[in-house]
Amino acid sequence: MTQAEHERHFNDKIAKEIKIEPNDWMPDEYRQTLIRQISQHAHSEVVGMLPEGNWITRAPNLRRKAVLLAKVQDEAGHGLYLYSATETLGADREQTIDDLHTGKAKYSSIFNYPALTWADIGAIGWLVDGAAIMNQVALCRTSYGPYARAMVKICKEESFHQRQGYESLMKLCNGTPQQKAMAQDALNRFWWPALMMFGPNDAESTHSEQSIAWKIKRFTNDELRQSFVDATVPQAEILGLTIPDENLKWNEERGHYDFSEINWDEFWQVVKGNGPCNKERLAARIKAKEEGLWVREAANAFAKKRAMKKSA
Ligand SMILES: [Fe+2]
Ligand SMILES: [Fe+2]
Repeated sequence: MTQAEHERHFNDKIAKEIKIEPNDWMPDEYRQTLIRQISQHAHSEVVGMLPEGNWITRAPNLRRKAVLLAKVQDEAGHGLYLYSATETLGADREQTIDDLHTGKAKYSSIFNYPALTWADIGAIGWLVDGAAIMNQVALCRTSYGPYARAMVKICKEESFHQRQGYESLMKLCNGTPQQKAMAQDALNRFWWPALMMFGPNDAESTHSEQSIAWKIKRFTNDELRQSFVDATVPQAEILGLTIPDENLKWNEERGHYDFSEINWDEFWQVVKGNGPCNKERLAARIKAKEEGLWVREAANAFAKKRAMKKSA
């Protein structure tokens, strides 16, 4: 097939909602966009384990500890699926991880904020996993087959993550005044970073338009952010918590909540590496890779030995 025929065939599939599979022809830019997006997503899952992992030993009881442990393990699984998905596009996993460690690749800005209190763990589940679900449910219909299929299982686990966070906050909000104040404080600190998770406004978003045309993205950043706000406000009301935005108001005409402009300066600062925990998060990942070297070496040596035995 000529290049033009390949392209026509590819565009035809996109138009007909037929998934693109690893061995199919695809435009180079489509492949690179997916590698960037999926590896960024994988890094977010793995770095996202750090703020919560820090609380496993300090969970207030056995049930909470078991739930949090299961949640953090799920995130490791999500990372592994997604690194595998980048490999189906021809990416080298080690290179992908090195790109994270050298700062070339990004991960979600939210994980550069610290989890200071136990209530933050609830707020992360409710808001951060809640925002992730909004994004990821849409990605179940993304045009690249392996990514779309990975999202189906991941979304089921994410909904457990969101609910465990919400349930934990519900307990605090029905507890002592101090516990409720702790929950409010966590919401105050995590609300705006959670809204930033959807990325820059559509007008500023460099990759959006092409990604929508290729059906990698199904909704724009602003559409997803609005859906998140609309879904989350009633949940805050049930908890009896106040969202820290004095301009938050139901707009009858639009059928959506209006809300204040995000502090984009803070967003870009965190993206550029100047958030409260950027250095700490990267240092933790680099240390994990260095300290795990002997495991990888042992596994490789064992695999080699087995292969030798087999060929003998
Ligand atoms: Fe996840
Ligand atoms: Fe999650």
